[in-house]
Amino acid sequence: MDELVELSYLDAVVRETLRLHAPVPSTVRVAMKDDILPVDTPFTDKYGVVHDGINVRKGDSIFIPILAINRSEAIWGTDAKEFNPDRWASLPEVASQVPGVWGHLMTFLGGPRACIGYRFSLVEMKALLFTLVRAFEFELAVPASDVGKRSTLVQRPFLRSDPESKSQLPLLVKPYRKTSGLS
Ligand code: HEM
Repeated sequence: MDELVELSYLDAVVRETLRLHAPVPSTVRVAMKDDILPVDTPFTDKYGVVHDGINVRKGDSIFIPILAINRSEAIWGTDAKEFNPDRWASLPEVASQVPGVWGHLMTFLGGPRACIGYRFSLVEMKALLFTLVRAFEFELAVPASDVGKRSTLVQRPFLRSDPESKSQLPLLVKPYRKTSGLS
């Protein structure tokens, strides 16, 4: 554990993976009563009326776009859709306003019904990466363009050439051989 915690680049890679590829891309909440949701910045509706809150009625569904927030250019900058672990070295200030339970991200949601397994997930991801990436080389066994994502609650990969089959991601796995570059 101590060794894993000290690896700052591994930490940045895990954060960036969970930002860009949040396994749960969205969720829904249902309003328990008529209410007004406060907004940070007033907005103008299609009739030209300015609002500083969103009226909801009891029973309304409220869509929470986890992945869209994680990839928002307004928060993460123009390269928001790129995989860049280095961004975690200096976070944009606005990211600190994201109300996620972990990492300035919505990946594990926030509030009283946020994910209770997030610490376990982080350690597990780090331990797997630390062990597997140093021991093996991974390569896609199919063209990247053949890999699609489908989602019920959790996003999973499938093959566009084999859409009837269950989720799959064929990989070629080889033992890692360190090459010195010297002959
Ligand atoms: C990368 C892995 C994981 C991600 C991205 C994730 C994400 C989430 C999200 C977004 C929610 C809220 C869903 C909703 O209410 O609509 C949630 C809830 C929950 N998660 Fe996770 N989760 C992960 C792993 C785990 C693990 C490993 C556990 C258990 C060991 C776990 C246990 C739970 C439980 C019990 C809830 C329901 C909490 C409640 O409703 O009060 N999760 N998770």
